[in-house]
Amino acid sequence: MTETITIHGAAIPKLGFGTWQLKGAECEAAVGHALATGYRHVDTAQAYENESEVGRAISDSGVSRDDIFLTTKVWMSNMGADRMADSVRRSLDRLKVDRVDLLLLHWPNSEHPFEQMIESLNACREAGLTAHVGVSNYTADQIERAAKASDAPLVCDQVEYHPFLSQRPVLDALERRDMALTAYSPIAQGGVFGNGTIKAIGERHRKSEAQVALRWLIQQERVIAIPRSSKPENIESNFAIFDFSLSDEEMARIFRLAKPDGRMIDPEWAPDWDAA
Ligand SMILES: NC(=O)c1ccc[n+]([C@@H]2O[C@H](COP(=O)([O-])OP(=O)(O)OC[C@H]3O[C@@H](n4cnc5c(N)ncnc54)[C@H](OP(=O)(O)O)[C@@H]3O)[C@@H](O)[C@H]2O)c1
Repeated sequence: MTETITIHGAAIPKLGFGTWQLKGAECEAAVGHALATGYRHVDTAQAYENESEVGRAISDSGVSRDDIFLTTKVWMSNMGADRMADSVRRSLDRLKVDRVDLLLLHWPNSEHPFEQMIESLNACREAGLTAHVGVSNYTADQIERAAKASDAPLVCDQVEYHPFLSQRPVLDALERRDMALTAYSPIAQGGVFGNGTIKAIGERHRKSEAQVALRWLIQQERVIAIPRSSKPENIESNFAIFDFSLSDEEMARIFRLAKPDGRMIDPEWAPDWDAA
């Protein structure tokens, strides 16, 4: 059974299914398997070019739409005031839903006025295209500025977060605004495997390094994790994290694994990240 966090009225399963780099039939099968396994939170984006497959997997799954928390993200080229809502309508067509549960701005974008993008995001919500709004890859200062500019409460910032990357400044900013952190690349794209500390903790609980990393994330009060996998056995094992818990001492040992060069996703358009 999954656990849920409620943030500004959004009931979000703490473990979701990521879909970046999943394409075509592989994507459809993976999302279908995730839903059959029990995941009730699916993360996609305009830029992933898989919204149609995600939509088909959802509609073929037999799981009620109301039981699935579905997120998509507006790509940077669609962030202009004249483009955003239409681009989201096209996403909804591909996803075969009337609205998504959460709509995020995928990255901060210096090509448009900061507040205008937040206003356009809010306009999507007012038009009924999404139930909730949030951001992704925003720094601590940007979270504060965006929260001030937004009519509707922002529910999350989706950022890279795993045992090798501290997100302390972002977590502090999110706490001040009562927002969640959605952790992407939560198993460091496989990098947690072979880490001595995580492996030893896993052996104590008969769990893999991925399961320990995911448990460490969701055991933090306002953190949600969205691992991705194309393989049925990994999809299932990543979900098997609700039958054990980490002690305070084990949590602290994993927090100590963060390192200054732990960030993996850092494209040229990335913001000036917070020093952790
Ligand atoms: N907002 C953003 O800018 C942003 C950026 C990056 C990611 N995201 C979101 O976050 C999601 C997750 O991040 P991610 O895809 O970067 O990385 P991730 O979930 O940390 O890792 C995915 C990789 O780990 C492997 N894997 C997964 N479970 C495994 C297991 N139990 N044992 C062994 N290998 C395993 C997968 O391979 P197999 O397929 O072989 O299992 C895949 O290569 C994305 O899919 C996307 O939805 C958002």
